[in-house]
Amino acid sequence: MDVKLERLPGQVACIRIDRPEARNALNAAVRERLAEIFIEIAQDETVHCAVLAGTDKVFAAGADIKAMATAEPVDMMLRAGERTWAPLKDFPKPLIAAVNGYALGGGCELAMHADIIIAGEGARFGQPEIKVGIIPGAGGTQRLVRAVGKFKAMKILLTGEPIAAREAEAMGLVSEVVPDGEVLDRALALARQIAAMPQLAARKIKELVLQGSDLPLEAALLLERNTFQLMFGTADQKEGMAAFLEKRAPSFTGR
Ligand code: HXC
Repeated sequence: MDVKLERLPGQVACIRIDRPEARNALNAAVRERLAEIFIEIAQDETVHCAVLAGTDKVFAAGADIKAMATAEPVDMMLRAGERTWAPLKDFPKPLIAAVNGYALGGGCELAMHADIIIAGEGARFGQPEIKVGIIPGAGGTQRLVRAVGKFKAMKILLTGEPIAAREAEAMGLVSEVVPDGEVLDRALALARQIAAMPQLAARKIKELVLQGSDLPLEAALLLERNTFQLMFGTADQKEGMAAFLEKRAPSFTGR
């Protein structure tokens, strides 16, 4: 199996793409399996946070060019790639991408489906689709602009040249850069930290950041205010504030 799912202690799921012979290119089988996994762990209450990684050499070199080289528009329409991206796009829990090596094309777009990106010093991000005569097809022209702004995004999209992890971090595409050998451990440690937080608050933060950024500010602020008020109906709010006032560690239930 090219995609592995592990449930780890601390309510963390770790999903690893392992198709090194094709540099983790995202063929139909890999994308179908990723979709199945994300549907499964979205519903699994024992999973609070997920980490998505490739191997220690490559995150993903993009969509499988061999499977697309002779395709016609109708083939691409019937493949309906968006069906397999949807469970990642709609994953309601915090998702951390652990990126070693190349995250190119669909691989960079895959990383951008995450909420936090941890990259190794040797990681490279890029949208090289233009070099093979196409354009990004899983959010690259949209999420990249929202992450780094028009002028950085245009340079990456129009030249197809990869950028190094530090540059990606400086422009806001990466949350944190760590030594190459420490990427997965750091991502998992962060996942455990987030998984120990009140889960409804974590989900609502994700929902508001993602939905709010495409709404007019006043509508987004209203959504935030209503959600803020709603949090006062949770047991974790009562416990979190009581624990603070009683100077003890909180014990959250996710309710
Ligand atoms: C199919 C791929 C592949 C890909 C690598 N391989 N990337 N196969 N699709 N995207 C295969 C090669 O054909 C080769 O197979 C083997 O993996 C090793 O690749 P090399 O190039 O020899 O490895 P290396 O020198 O280490 O270079 C790694 C690399 C390079 C820099 C990642 O492979 C590369 O540039 N790949 C293409 C990146 C790209 O253009 N991505 C965008 C794809 S379009 P053989 O059989 O020869 O050993 C896209 C559109 C997204 O992503 C749309 C939304 C889904």
